[in-house]
Amino acid sequence: MKLNLRILTVVVLAVTFVGLTGCPLPETPDNGTDNGTDNGTDNGTDNGTDNGTDNGTDATVDPAEFTAADAVRGGLLYDKWWAVVGVEAPTDDHALWATRPDLESNARTGADTWRCKECHGWDYKGVDGAYSGGSHRTGFAGIFETDATAQETFDDIKDTHGFGEAGLADPEIWNLAKFVLEGQIDTDAIIADGAFIGDADAGQATFDATCSVCHGANGLSIPPGGPDDFDAFVGFLSNDNPAEFLHKVRFGQPGTGMPAQFAVLTVEGAGDLAAYAQTLPETAE
Ligand code: HEC
Ligand code: HEC
Repeated sequence: MKLNLRILTVVVLAVTFVGLTGCPLPETPDNGTDNGTDNGTDNGTDNGTDNGTDNGTDATVDPAEFTAADAVRGGLLYDKWWAVVGVEAPTDDHALWATRPDLESNARTGADTWRCKECHGWDYKGVDGAYSGGSHRTGFAGIFETDATAQETFDDIKDTHGFGEAGLADPEIWNLAKFVLEGQIDTDAIIADGAFIGDADAGQATFDATCSVCHGANGLSIPPGGPDDFDAFVGFLSNDNPAEFLHKVRFGQPGTGMPAQFAVLTVEGAGDLAAYAQTLPETAE
């Protein structure tokens, strides 16, 4: 009888452990620590207490809407949300625009002031990244490595930023939150001084297999459906604005058939591709 109980306890503990570790909770860094410590030390002694405490601390279980959300669509919305949703571009200035710490450098008005990237940057680092200077500088902070929960991020975008009132439906705001918490990468890991760190030969294989069908063997074709005056060629954009190029490769171009490589390419693979892209001609001449 005693033996049976012991076996049962072990089984229950094992199941609990598997349940905890198998649970995808990206923004609860204490999960890893809790699981390790608790299971190692407390086996058999105070199950009841542990479970109570764990559940209390790890209570940031993501809302179902977040779990179901689409980081790729969120990345496209981050770029230019109205082109993704298919609504008219806003004409007034975003309410936070008037509060930018640097009112001089970035003279844009209207729709541009509503793009997430205009305030937070293509590298997601705001004033600490590429927008630390130049004509896009606002002085606003970035969103990289935010420690907010899914619900806090949703509320921030919907209410604090006013994107709910501006017409973005809740599922789209969840997509944005998904991108913010799971779609961002550290662009500094593959871009140094404007040059991609990567294996251009490996990148060429990816380009030839994935991109050339629409952009041509040397990246100078106008992609299907693109305007006659299209000039954001692969060789041009990858050199002119590496972080923007990377974002568009990973998430696509809003409102066009450009396919996202988010789920296809690793960060390293994207660096390889982009390193090759930087060797391509920038203009047709
Ligand atoms: C007009 C400028 C502006 C635009 C456009 C803008 N933001 Fe922000 N954002 C801010 C400011 C200012 C803050 C800091 C204050 C706050 O939390 O609202 C911020 C904060 C954030 C934070 C919190 C970061 C943290 O460290 O917790 C997130 C996430 C965020 N923004 C996401 C977005 C997304 C997604 C969009 C586009 C849908 C967007 N922002 C558009 C100005 C902007
Ligand atoms: C199915 C066709 C298709 C494929 C495959 C494709 N693209 Fe595109 N791409 C497009 C279209 C369409 C546009 C938007 C043209 C426009 O501005 O209307 C575009 C736009 C771009 C732009 C310009 C973005 C801008 O700011 O205007 C770049 C850079 C780019 N693609 C790079 C790539 C790379 C690199 C790959 C391979 C990973 C790739 N594309 C694969 C169709 C494609």
